[in-house]
Amino acid sequence: MTKTMRAVEFDGAGGPEVIRVVKRPRPEAGPGEVLVKVAAAGLNRADVQQRRGVYPPPPGASDIPGLEVSGTIAALGRDVHGHVAGASVCALLAGGGYAEYVAVPAGQVLPVPGNTGLVEAAALPEVTCTVWSNLFMEAGVVPGDWVLIHGGAGGIGTMATQMVAAFGAHPVVTAGSGEKLEYCRGFGAEAGINYRNDDFVERMREFSLGHGADVILDVVGATYLDRNLRALAPGGRLVVIGLQGGSKSELDLRILMSRRARVIGTTLRARPVEEKAQIVAQVKEHVWPLIEANTVRTAVEARYRLEDAVEAHEHFDSGRHVGKILLTM
Ligand SMILES: NC(=O)c1ccc[n+]([C@@H]2O[C@H](COP(=O)([O-])OP(=O)(O)OC[C@H]3O[C@@H](n4cnc5c(N)ncnc54)[C@H](OP(=O)(O)O)[C@@H]3O)[C@@H](O)[C@H]2O)c1
Repeated sequence: MTKTMRAVEFDGAGGPEVIRVVKRPRPEAGPGEVLVKVAAAGLNRADVQQRRGVYPPPPGASDIPGLEVSGTIAALGRDVHGHVAGASVCALLAGGGYAEYVAVPAGQVLPVPGNTGLVEAAALPEVTCTVWSNLFMEAGVVPGDWVLIHGGAGGIGTMATQMVAAFGAHPVVTAGSGEKLEYCRGFGAEAGINYRNDDFVERMREFSLGHGADVILDVVGATYLDRNLRALAPGGRLVVIGLQGGSKSELDLRILMSRRARVIGTTLRARPVEEKAQIVAQVKEHVWPLIEANTVRTAVEARYRLEDAVEAHEHFDSGRHVGKILLTM
């Protein structure tokens, strides 16, 4: 008889009302995979976009939402080495996290850091891998760089700020209110800009004594493209990872050329399994020690039970959250 599990699915595209908690067949660990009994799943903006019908899962990925989980290893597939059943882990997924069990390629599984709770660890994989791959592997942040982080109070923003500070660079953030900027300072932001009533190009230049941003981590896209380029220092790198302000915009190549700047765009979810494994290995080597030394911490604002996934998404949609929201099994 097929074993079943509880999971979330979207019944059509729309608001939180399309969320259903259903029974699904329990996945099995295929070759090279680990089966995780999920303790908690992290919410990400991608889940909301998938719910709205604008960000379908990549080919081959589960239609169950959820890009990161924590839990214990329930079973090992063929040809899996370096993992043991019963171990506490967290994992980066292409989907399937809002469920009691998920099968994941072994290279995307990380141990739960020694000082982090099993549930809390669900807040780590997506943000650490996104920040490491974009700011350090793609944009090559080095000590002394000025780094402008848009959306500093969000899940990605709180981790980006801490990692930039930990590596000796200067994090400057944008956020939508004075309270959120204050919250960002608690994670090491050296300066904050309220994007609703201030000009980040001017402020960034002021804070960096006329230099500009060596690197910008952007979650807004089209409506910020021109201003982002203007905020860059010579040799600056703009990394676009979100499109909350749209995807199409005019690019003034003169600004790009005069600044010898580079524009980079990435999505983590669609990367091949081998690339994700490389990112996860680097995160384990470079970021996990910072977490274990309490230099970098998770920023969990709220936890909801799987049955309350509607409320969790309503909370996320409200935009009043800071840091991460988790679903517990
Ligand atoms: N490409 C990738 O691989 C990848 C991976 C993970 C995440 N992402 C993207 O990264 C972004 C953050 O994700 P998340 O899970 O951390 O979501 P989140 O916690 O909801 O954060 C969203 C952030 O965007 C900020 N924001 C919205 N409009 C803004 C504007 N006009 N100027 C500056 N900031 C603005 C919000 O700031 P306030 O709350 O202060 O208004 C909030 O901090 C999303 O766009 C997501 O799609 C991309």
